[in-house]
Amino acid sequence: MRMAIPRTVREDFPIFRRRVHGKPLVYLDSAATSQKPRQVIEALVRYYEEYNANVHRGIYTLAEEATAKYEEARRKVATFIHARRPEEVIFTRSTTEAINLVAYAWGLHYLREGDEILLTEMEHHSNLVPWQIVASLKGASLRFLSFDEEGYLVLDDLERVLTERTKVVAVSHQSNVLGTINPVDEIVKRAHDVGAIVVVDGAQSVPHMPVDVQKLGCDFLAFSGHKMCGPTGIGALYGRYELLEAMPPFHGGGEMIQLVQLHTSTYKDPPWKFEAGTPNIADAIAWGVAIDYLCEVGMEAIRTHEKELVQYALNRLQEMAEVKVYGPRDVERRGSALAFNVADVHPHDVAQVLDQEGICIRAGHHCTQPLHRRLGVAATARASFYLYNTEEDIDQLVAGLQRVRELFSRVPR
Ligand SMILES: Cc1ncc(COP(=O)(O)O)c(C=O)c1O
Repeated sequence: MRMAIPRTVREDFPIFRRRVHGKPLVYLDSAATSQKPRQVIEALVRYYEEYNANVHRGIYTLAEEATAKYEEARRKVATFIHARRPEEVIFTRSTTEAINLVAYAWGLHYLREGDEILLTEMEHHSNLVPWQIVASLKGASLRFLSFDEEGYLVLDDLERVLTERTKVVAVSHQSNVLGTINPVDEIVKRAHDVGAIVVVDGAQSVPHMPVDVQKLGCDFLAFSGHKMCGPTGIGALYGRYELLEAMPPFHGGGEMIQLVQLHTSTYKDPPWKFEAGTPNIADAIAWGVAIDYLCEVGMEAIRTHEKELVQYALNRLQEMAEVKVYGPRDVERRGSALAFNVADVHPHDVAQVLDQEGICIRAGHHCTQPLHRRLGVAATARASFYLYNTEEDIDQLVAGLQRVRELFSRVPR
């Protein structure tokens, strides 16, 4: 089969030199966090060795260099998601912090008693719990769009659950369990018709496909650097500038102020109004390098590669009658996170047997307990793919699952 990405990309990732239990590493957990290319690791070292200084403060060469690189990283992130201007990108710790920023700064300011927040039943806890907290503080309530047997959102229900009381629609672009790619552009149009803002959880979409916030039309988009070849501890919130301007700050402290009096303060313009204290300078800069790397490989090529891998995995897993795969079968409408169960073997046992073969998958509820409750299972196993994965990795996975089958069919039940 033709692969859109050369196998040589693996050579950029030092971790693939590692062996686990004497076996070559087969990393199938990129939905949790991706591996990092050498270029990103070197960018971190370069910052600390050559121009480590705080940003926006120093009047000396090192500080000016650090500030320039930090703001350059912001421009790279903005260009990557097609924001209208770099000032629409706020650096955060992660997707989780980005969603909390909107929920607290926008939600506490604008939500009123009786307002409704519309979520979906497939949300990651990061796009659920912050809204539960803010809704209870403001007397607002949560409503949910469900998904069908195949793992698609039931859009016909929008008619019923989206009303003039809806003030926020918060939806994941791509499910981290079912893999479903949700029709965010359509949801945005319907939400805007009733005057609601739309917050998109892009944790699983931004790393894996071209994302254009102007085309999506969303008001906010949250995503994490560590899932897209960047370091941990850095993420971003994109927000439409007019909304950011009209929002109060999230955190107070140094760097986000204009004038501080004993009783009151005035704040900087966005995005700096939302970046209190010393930011994560090194990781922001290295994330910019990760974005350069992804752009060089090409986001279209990454999406094509993953579609081919998922199709291959779906075909191979179909050969095993005892493997139940969750989520859509149509690779045009799904990403590369693939949840499954092997008969009644606990996913933790599956993951442990695979680990002995050097294969890393995730097992558990993947921070989506309500989704799993809807599926009627406590946990699933999940394999997820990225640009460095190959068909051989999937062959290894299938061989490992055959081993699981052998081991557990011997256990009397
Ligand atoms: C869909 C989705 N949303 C949010 C998150 C949270 O991301 P982070 O832990 O980087 O904040 C994840 C992480 O797995 C995710 O898959």
